[in-house]
Amino acid sequence: LWLLAAMAFMGYVLGSVPFGLILTNMAGVGDLRKIGSGNIGATNVLRTGRKDLAAATLGLDAAKGALAVVIAWIMTPPDFSDRILAVTALAVVVGHCYPIFLGFKGGKGVATGLGALLALSPITGLIGCAAWLGVAKLTRISSAGALAAFLIMPFVTLALYGFSFQASGKPMAVLLISLLVLMRHSANIGRILNGTEPRVPPKQK
Ligand code: G3P
Repeated sequence: LWLLAAMAFMGYVLGSVPFGLILTNMAGVGDLRKIGSGNIGATNVLRTGRKDLAAATLGLDAAKGALAVVIAWIMTPPDFSDRILAVTALAVVVGHCYPIFLGFKGGKGVATGLGALLALSPITGLIGCAAWLGVAKLTRISSAGALAAFLIMPFVTLALYGFSFQASGKPMAVLLISLLVLMRHSANIGRILNGTEPRVPPKQK
């Protein structure tokens, strides 16, 4: 049990590192939380006009999600690793959404969630990434891509692992992470419904 707690803590702290904010601060492009949607994720970094920083944010936020699961995988004996990996994946996304370093006001967990799920269940993660990229490209609405991805992934893991939550923690982790990410997009869902959700890239003047 101590290992589970340690991995959950590690995941949470790692998830709490707000790369979007760190990179934009370092580049001196102003406070990300006062720009666009105010979110600390890659989509909002893109709204600063810095594609390079947005790509780096996406990469690093996804990498921290994957890294947490990989660390847990290395630290855990194989016979009970599944559940510890699942809890770590959830913890890293919770860390990103409610970071200890930002007074618990964090992001929406898209990149971190995709990174963690790629490591936890590569097939689920890959299908999620495909849905995210596909829908985002089609609609040019980043949040629509995220919603599609995190709506689809619970069904993918259920198809892969079945309904037996006892056998593996993975479907539960995918379900809870997806619920969290969808919940964090409530404002985006509202804007999509009333047609005010901004598209990326913003229209050139
Ligand atoms: O799905 C991407 C999500 O993070 C949307 O970000 O800044 O458009 O609310 P934002």
